[in-house]
Amino acid sequence: MYDWDMNNDEFRFKEQCEYVPVIENKEKLGNYTRFVVMGMGGSNIAAEFIKAVDPLCDITIHRDYGVPFYLKNDGNTLIVISSYSGNTEETLDAYRVAREKEFPIVVITQGGELLSWAQEDYVPYIALPHIVDHPRMAVILSLKALCACIKNTKALEEIKKCGTIDFKACEFKGRELAELLRDKVPLIWSSLRSKGIGYFWKIQCNETAKIPAFSNVLPEATHNEIEQWDNQKNHLVQDMYPIMLIDVHDDPRIVKRFEIVKALYEEHNITFSLIETKENEFLSSLIGLIAVGSCMAWNLGEYYAVDQRRVPLIENLKQQLKEK
Ligand code: PA5
Repeated sequence: MYDWDMNNDEFRFKEQCEYVPVIENKEKLGNYTRFVVMGMGGSNIAAEFIKAVDPLCDITIHRDYGVPFYLKNDGNTLIVISSYSGNTEETLDAYRVAREKEFPIVVITQGGELLSWAQEDYVPYIALPHIVDHPRMAVILSLKALCACIKNTKALEEIKKCGTIDFKACEFKGRELAELLRDKVPLIWSSLRSKGIGYFWKIQCNETAKIPAFSNVLPEATHNEIEQWDNQKNHLVQDMYPIMLIDVHDDPRIVKRFEIVKALYEEHNITFSLIETKENEFLSSLIGLIAVGSCMAWNLGEYYAVDQRRVPLIENLKQQLKEK
């Protein structure tokens, strides 16, 4: 068994937790009330986490070329350009368009073209340290960097819990989940507020374990996806393994829906996992949930004997796009 611990070379969670972001050209970064974060894959997960921790924060996630068509440069909107490699096509395009439209910009990157552009154009930027190799493994670094750029105190408070998290307990939970998920397709349901956690677990399963995985939110999933459980003789349905992420802050009406779904699973003998966060437990913290999902995917990758670190198809696609 792989000797997985939370400060191993792949994740270095403890080092990530200690990181203090430095904003270069800081004098050019003003105060804003609205934020739009441009980035793809692992580089645009941190913004989802901010939504989970601080639902009052006006933050939009843009995973596409350019900037959202409707976006007006009203002086109150900061565009955050986030790319770990600094070479992702869509994100570089977002930078170009945002500059053309003269939006206030801040850049979060580890290098590449984006870093050079930010330096040449004298825009505020954070150069992420080389602590881990892959963006989805570096989510705590990018979360800290994003919090610093948008000056979000609620999320910063949450991150401070880093020091008190029982990473061993997270690791244990992650391993346990990975065992239950063997040869199954994870189907993660959460509230809309916790959407980012479910999505992070999904992309960890996709990229690290190289398996299909899906995430969805309540109440919407109870208006469509729920019907699949009425077709259990079908192997497509039998291959699914539902995980319910119920957060301590979830609206009681959403919790009631989860309870009804749970009863449905029990009635139909569907094996499932319920991750219920409670105050003052490791799972009540965002960082704890990030660690559990990362460990779960890492162990699944080990079970499937894949290279958890590399993402060759993504890299190959990016290369082909450059050549055209
Ligand atoms: O985790 C990954 O490797 C991907 O999801 C990347 O984050 C994504 O392809 C975007 O690349 P980058 O983060 O370098 O902009």
